[in-house]
Amino acid sequence: MNRVYIKTYGCQMNQRDSEQVACDLRSRGYSIVQHEEDADVVLLNTCSVRDQAEQKAIGKAGHLARRKRENPNFVLGILGCMAQNRGSELLDRLPDLDLVAGTQKFHRVPDHLDNLIASMNAQGPRPTSILDLEEELDSQNAINSHKAGERQVSAFVSIMQGCNMKCTFCIVPKTRGPERARPIAHIIQEVETLVANGTREVTLLGQIVTSYGRREIPFIDKKSPFVQLLEQLNEIDGLERIRFTSPHPRGFKEDLVEAYGRLDKLCEYAHLPVQSGSDRILKAMNRPYSVDRYMQLVRDLRAVQPDMYFSTDIIVGFPGETDQDFQMTCDMFEEIGFDMAFIFKYSPRSGTPAAELHDDVPKTVKEERNQILLKILEKQSRRRNASLVGTIQEILVECPARKGEGMFMGRTRGFRKVIFPASQRLIGEMVDVEIEESSVTTLKGRLSLTGVDTGMAVAT
Ligand code: 5AD
Repeated sequence: MNRVYIKTYGCQMNQRDSEQVACDLRSRGYSIVQHEEDADVVLLNTCSVRDQAEQKAIGKAGHLARRKRENPNFVLGILGCMAQNRGSELLDRLPDLDLVAGTQKFHRVPDHLDNLIASMNAQGPRPTSILDLEEELDSQNAINSHKAGERQVSAFVSIMQGCNMKCTFCIVPKTRGPERARPIAHIIQEVETLVANGTREVTLLGQIVTSYGRREIPFIDKKSPFVQLLEQLNEIDGLERIRFTSPHPRGFKEDLVEAYGRLDKLCEYAHLPVQSGSDRILKAMNRPYSVDRYMQLVRDLRAVQPDMYFSTDIIVGFPGETDQDFQMTCDMFEEIGFDMAFIFKYSPRSGTPAAELHDDVPKTVKEERNQILLKILEKQSRRRNASLVGTIQEILVECPARKGEGMFMGRTRGFRKVIFPASQRLIGEMVDVEIEESSVTTLKGRLSLTGVDTGMAVAT
């Protein structure tokens, strides 16, 4: 009864939450299995950002419920955003569910499983389902921090939870609650422990990291708490790279732009969700910036870091988006030359202000606009990767590549994936790789022998 399979939907925050649930469960004596069929317990960690994400998880849970009918000892749980968003409605819809635990309750999952299993053993199958969605009183402690675990060359670190913005399309303030930050000292301690265990790169996570600590931590020398955190992380010996996601363009003030020119560990990469290239649509989305202001921000960042890489989120088919609005999005998309983007078809989320508007852009048009942007993205990503052929890039070696004997995977500071021959002992090392080939998504190369210890065995 102790083999658990966790399936994760959605963003990096969800990945990080699942990672910590797995870690907590292991230390409670559960084993985490890689295949659903091998599990006695399946936990779905869910996403609510779009209807499609919810439907996928509901479909999966329905399917698993059938397995529960064949084997009453099988345990099925739904965690995270959809649990928080839909609550007891999920139990009405899927009466076979054993556990529904919200976004502030991940740390309670081992207790809940222990209780469910104990009551199954005592009373036989079908204990009462557990619904746990309450707000955590000490909510800071409910933000997952690494407790123990395997070495991770690149690790996610949650620095805050929640979002106070009121983007009209977005369900996240409901699923993740209001903003609350972990203290800087806790985060630094966590990263130092990670680094002592071999981590070289951290990605700071939060729904709106640029608002980190704004209510709890004072500005110092006009520097926001987020920039103060970056500065302190930059001082940690053995840490090589710092990334973060997601910021809000409005939170990218001068102090943060300037940090890109000053903090050597901060990678030249910014994921800056723009959502639309039309001021009219931005206004309807309640995004508090104009396209001009956004473009200026991109120019400012390029001025301090000419080699900057940009990634973004775009929603196509927001209510009222005309061909002309969409054309503006395409123009902006090309002018900035995004290297990476996540493009979403607008999906009304019940309870958000935009859900009151008529969802008037037909599905086919949303799909068409999605495809148009993906084509532009493909062209831009291919071009950027091709420009790297012949250069030497600093790579953090992460893991063996999925394919190819003796091949390893690492990333450039600009987050481009590179495949190259190397050896196991280089995992976690920074190496120089000469880029030889490129495609839309991947670079291929070989270790550059100038100035680095390649660690490759030389036959004598
Ligand atoms: N429909 C489509 N996309 C959405 N996103 C958030 N809410 C919606 C929605 N209702 C997208 C935004 C956000 C990303 C995480 O998901 O682009 O930045």
